[in-house]
Amino acid sequence: MSPILESRGLTKTFGAVTAARDISLSIEEDTVVGLIGGNGAGKTTFLNLVTGYLKPTAGTVRFQGRDITGMAPRRITRLGICRSFQIPQVFDTLTAYENLLVGLGIVSMGRKAFVGSNLGTARPEAVADEMLERFHLREYRDEPASVLPEGVRKLLDIAMALAVKPAILLLDEPTSGVSADEKFSLMDLVLGAIRADKVTVLFVEHDMDIVRRYTQRILAFYDGKVIADGDSATVLSNPEVRRLVVGEPAPEEGAAPC
Ligand SMILES: Nc1ncnc2c1ncn2[C@@H]1O[C@H](COP(=O)(O)OP(=O)(O)OP(=O)(O)O)[C@@H](O)[C@H]1O
Ligand SMILES: [Mg+2]
Repeated sequence: MSPILESRGLTKTFGAVTAARDISLSIEEDTVVGLIGGNGAGKTTFLNLVTGYLKPTAGTVRFQGRDITGMAPRRITRLGICRSFQIPQVFDTLTAYENLLVGLGIVSMGRKAFVGSNLGTARPEAVADEMLERFHLREYRDEPASVLPEGVRKLLDIAMALAVKPAILLLDEPTSGVSADEKFSLMDLVLGAIRADKVTVLFVEHDMDIVRRYTQRILAFYDGKVIADGDSATVLSNPEVRRLVVGEPAPEEGAAPC
């Protein structure tokens, strides 16, 4: 399998804070990858660097073999990398349907490049309705986003990202703000909708039960660095990951096994 996304030596400093330290990794096409790490580990910074919301201090990002380092977010979106946000970026005064149209409209400002490569001949209105269907949002179609429950706003934000037909979708904490008993059904719905198109997924998640269930591979970040990268079971049983990410107390020196 060829990598769809690759970072080499990716580094970002904010004054005295280093939010990304020499991050080198690659994501294979057609996989679902989890990104874990405690608060402030650099997960959102990494997504911001890949999607052009932040410019790296050093290092490169390649997408489908092409250097996209430092490109503007809109250009990166048009190439095929889309994202959803930790706090849903929806327009409160617009309905769910209108939000989808705005998302499609913004992207289609670069109409030639985008429509030609991704949307094809599909009409934005039809794509918006298809996304509402796929994400079970039909009943909210004409409701303003301001009145929608948080879980629904999350779904709408993800639907807006998928509507523009990306090759890879980066989801920043898709289940945050959603109650524990709703998380699994939300992920079933989200990944079902996304993977129907075989879109590659990288998602940030704090709940280890969710990452264990839905990923083939996990990247673990700590203090801006990758501290583990591999198949999900191996990374989740890695002692450093358990101590620094999962938050398990280190076994006491010389403690007798129980
Ligand atoms: N724009 C910024 N200016 C200054 N510091 C920043 C900025 N963005 C992030 N940081 C700092 O970079 C570090 C990494 O932040 P980041 O938001 O990437 O963490 P995260 O892993 O997404 O955390 P969380 O789980 O809380 O969302 C933190 O110390 C944060 O305070
Ligand atoms: Mg974050």
